[in-house]
Amino acid sequence: MASLTLRDIAKRYDETEVMRNINLDIADGEFVVFVGPSGCGKSTLMRMIAGLEDISSGDLNIDGTRVNDIPPAKRGIAMVFQSYALYPHMTLYDNMAFGLKLAGTKKPEIDAAVRNAAKILHIDHLLDRKPKQLSGGQRQRVAIGRAITRKPKVFLFDEPLSNLDAALRVKMRLEFARLHDELKTTMIYVTHDQVEAMTLADKIVVLSAGNIEQVGSPNRLYHAPANRFVAGFIGSPKMNFFEGTVQSVTADGVTVRYDTGETQRVAVEPSNVKEGDKVTVGIRPEHTHVNSGEYGVSVTTMAIESLGDAAYLYAESSVAPDGVIARIPPLEHHDRGETLKLGATPDHCHLFDANGQAFERKIIEVLAA
Ligand SMILES: Nc1ncnc2c1ncn2[C@@H]1O[C@H](COP(=O)(O)OP(=O)(O)O)[C@@H](O)[C@H]1O
Ligand SMILES: [Mg+2]
Repeated sequence: MASLTLRDIAKRYDETEVMRNINLDIADGEFVVFVGPSGCGKSTLMRMIAGLEDISSGDLNIDGTRVNDIPPAKRGIAMVFQSYALYPHMTLYDNMAFGLKLAGTKKPEIDAAVRNAAKILHIDHLLDRKPKQLSGGQRQRVAIGRAITRKPKVFLFDEPLSNLDAALRVKMRLEFARLHDELKTTMIYVTHDQVEAMTLADKIVVLSAGNIEQVGSPNRLYHAPANRFVAGFIGSPKMNFFEGTVQSVTADGVTVRYDTGETQRVAVEPSNVKEGDKVTVGIRPEHTHVNSGEYGVSVTTMAIESLGDAAYLYAESSVAPDGVIARIPPLEHHDRGETLKLGATPDHCHLFDANGQAFERKIIEVLAA
């Protein structure tokens, strides 16, 4: 078990800075997920924690001790990669025992560790098989098992499920949750899949272009994204963005006027905002409703996709350059080309300033930290 603190960590390759201002606290036993688009620095950050990459500047502490210059094997960390890196000619047992053998561990101790890990992962009946006789999910379990036998203080997982098909990914996702419940070890998990991040994490770290955009619980990131990037990244389908201008400001929120002349009321704290400011209203598809007139903006229907239990309406609007998606009841029909008014109640709206920073929403007091 271990806590980690990252202070002002940066990573440079020659002159190019690929990560900067990385400040993060990870508590003992926490399940932390790094999420962000491809190339944002998730693996680099994880590799710096593991000791596989030098830290260009800043401090990495594990349990209060600076470990920047401590070699990977001495950090008490085990890392599982996307490619499982199993030895094809060895049985599962030998694959899992290999690291301990190298470390000179005694045979009975190795045997206990391997059998314990295999039991935790439900692969104890497969120990005599070779990797090619296993499914992708089972191979992944062996790679995790190998990490468990080392009894690390911290587990690092770099996109462990990205080679598996969708159904197996869901199953293995639940396995990771169970594994964490059972071992209670600090885990850091990298993914570009926001559903994995939402379902597994105690704490999500959203990265973009080498920066931390926001750190928080899955609920906080969904309900109170700090900026447009996080708002657009967390949630699926992604949040709709409508460009507008502040028309009026009162104690209970802001009225935004669109170029179409229509308006949307938004329940945000009315500080640092004044009439005439350029703003963006954010509304998630699940809160975007067809309504008969008081609020929202006129859009042109493009298509409807039915999912059985619900449907998504795709629409175009001059004030929403990325298009608009609304979740509608499953049997509601609209013709292509039909004009509709789409909007949301004020407490379902988000508001962003011209720099993409979010205004504080009125509903935030109902959220857990
Ligand atoms: N050895 C390297 N030399 C130069 N740039 C690198 C090297 N490794 C990674 N990078 C750059 O660092 C950035 C982050 O990469 P990476 O951590 O692999 O992203 P992610 O895991 O989020 O997809 C990328 O822009 C990548 O091109
Ligand atoms: Mg990566």
